[in-house]
Amino acid sequence: MDITKIQNLKNQAISSILEAKDKQELEELRIHFLGRKGEISRLIKELPKLEVEERKEIGNLLNDAKAAIEEAIQNQSSVISHQSSVMDKDWLDVTAPGEKLDQGHLHPLTRAIREIAAVFERIGFIRVSYPEVEWEWYAFDGLNMPKTHPARDDYESFFVEGKPSSKYGRLVITPHTSSGQLREMQRTKPPIRIINIARCGRPNWDATHTPTFHQFEGLVIDERINITHLKGIFDYFAINFFGPKRKIRLRPFHFQFTEPSFEVDINCPLCLGKGCKLCKSGWHELGGSGMVHPQVLNNGGIDPKKYSGFAFGWGVERTYAMKSGLNLDDIRPLYEPDLRFINQF
Ligand code: DAH
Repeated sequence: MDITKIQNLKNQAISSILEAKDKQELEELRIHFLGRKGEISRLIKELPKLEVEERKEIGNLLNDAKAAIEEAIQNQSSVISHQSSVMDKDWLDVTAPGEKLDQGHLHPLTRAIREIAAVFERIGFIRVSYPEVEWEWYAFDGLNMPKTHPARDDYESFFVEGKPSSKYGRLVITPHTSSGQLREMQRTKPPIRIINIARCGRPNWDATHTPTFHQFEGLVIDERINITHLKGIFDYFAINFFGPKRKIRLRPFHFQFTEPSFEVDINCPLCLGKGCKLCKSGWHELGGSGMVHPQVLNNGGIDPKKYSGFAFGWGVERTYAMKSGLNLDDIRPLYEPDLRFINQF
């Protein structure tokens, strides 16, 4: 049986269906092509005569053709119904209430990103963007992370298949915005005061982790930058983003690319630090921070004897969830297309 013949038959059927002006004509076409004695059925009846292999192939083609013709008939049928209903209306009730259009709004994450950027821009930070698919060097080596660091495991980062660069290693979906630190140091000279907000990826899925997430990374480099500047910026952010009763706490920690390093906590939006069901300890973790390691400055081409700096990298989703009054205990719905959730924002 001829494949092009089937194809032509399908095309011919669809184009005649598209020209049908009324339901009567459409029904005649349906009988002609799909009826018990119609063109398609006639061919289906011939299937048993074919070899097994050919029968399979032609059978599939005929099924596809049948489905396409059925769909075209259904579509044309609604077009015809709509046209006749429009034509039947020879009067218009101008006093009837109008149809309310659904109104869209920005996704809560887009809003969070814009709000965070605005708070930093008010004190002179410049927003930058760097690649979401990044070389290993920028994401790890240049940040002092040794080849054996657990974050470089296949289970912790999404590496991209392809030829590695002899200079920069493999490609990876950037697992954090810290890669932008080196990019910025290479792009420009101090004073540097940037906020890099970007999409990141890590293979995790639970109430506080999604495989795609966002981080914002701050980087300030100049002469004589010290920890009091870091703390001052965080206090400013806490009050301006979260509200007047919110406080930041630093906990000593270890990151390869900062020394000293801290984890940054925010007091709980519900109990403001007393301890409650949501937080237990009174505090929630936002992300990491610290004074940029001299070796990282070196890697970025900046003289650590002359300049110092601080950096921080926090999750956008997590930070947004900590806003007063939001009570968001699971960030996963931010990545699901459920309007019942999204429309609450
Ligand atoms: N990149 C780290 C992470 O994703 C967070 C971080 C820690 C960023 C310390 C920093 C920093 O800038 O100084 O876990």
